[in-house]
Amino acid sequence: MKLRSRHLLGLEETTASEIKLILDTAESFREIIERPIKKVPTLRGVTVLNLFYEPSTRTRISFELAEKRLSADTINFSRALSSVTKGESLKDTVKNIEALKINMIVVRHASTGAPYFLTQCTGSNIINAGDGRHEHPTQALLDMFTIRRKYGRLEGLRVVLVGDVKHSRVIRSNIWGLKTMGASVAICGPSTLLPYEVEEFGVDVYTHLDEAMDGADVVNVMRIQLERQQAGLFPSMREYTRLFCVTKERLKLLNKNYTIMHPGPMNRGVEITSEVADSSSSVILEQVTNGQAVRMAVLYLLSGKQREE
Ligand code: CP
Repeated sequence: MKLRSRHLLGLEETTASEIKLILDTAESFREIIERPIKKVPTLRGVTVLNLFYEPSTRTRISFELAEKRLSADTINFSRALSSVTKGESLKDTVKNIEALKINMIVVRHASTGAPYFLTQCTGSNIINAGDGRHEHPTQALLDMFTIRRKYGRLEGLRVVLVGDVKHSRVIRSNIWGLKTMGASVAICGPSTLLPYEVEEFGVDVYTHLDEAMDGADVVNVMRIQLERQQAGLFPSMREYTRLFCVTKERLKLLNKNYTIMHPGPMNRGVEITSEVADSSSSVILEQVTNGQAVRMAVLYLLSGKQREE
């Protein structure tokens, strides 16, 4: 079994068997990162460019470490330290770096479609590390991997995604992935932060958190961005917190053996209380650990090394 594409742009078109392949492959890499020597020669000779036009802590470091643990050579591009500040375009930037003979590009960009654009003008394998409001596929894959490790399955679980549905690429990727894998998906947020096309998602939509959480197994809480309030999309942070913060009291609504998730970075006390974020049901740091294994799996499956074996 192989992935159909040599790029990972999103999960909307990714099949259940492809997602299963990535998650199963990640299981074997998860074992490697528990070893005393966390390094295998799998991607020796492969050069990966981490092209981050937007800030990132988890995704950037996780990819870099995944590449190093697979013995790939890595180059880290930071927009602020590059000639982009002198006006160089995305295409020229990538073409120039590609002239140094690279094989794969991990890209985060504020513009939706930037990873697709790179598939059209470069010869490298492209991995989307978050593009605009579109998708963040490796985040959703690591979220699904974390859920599957705890429950042994995704099918039939009730997963609630809470937050800024309109602007969240993490929510979009989670919706496509979880639906494909047979989970029951609900989204919840202020009506002003739901996109016009929300009905097309084919999930349950809530504007009241208590209703959304009632009978759920997993709550995945998204960061609310201050700039949304400045844009007038909700009246105040205090009101958002009153209506949408995942608190200890609200956890009583969930099924037994529930799970709390957050992709980070968190606004503690805004969308999630510290009490909940640091509770025994929270897998927030496990998500980060699992992210490395999932990204190792994605790099390996897209690299072409699997085909050589
Ligand atoms: N979850 C996530 O994408 O975090 P970073 O922005 O820190 O990469």
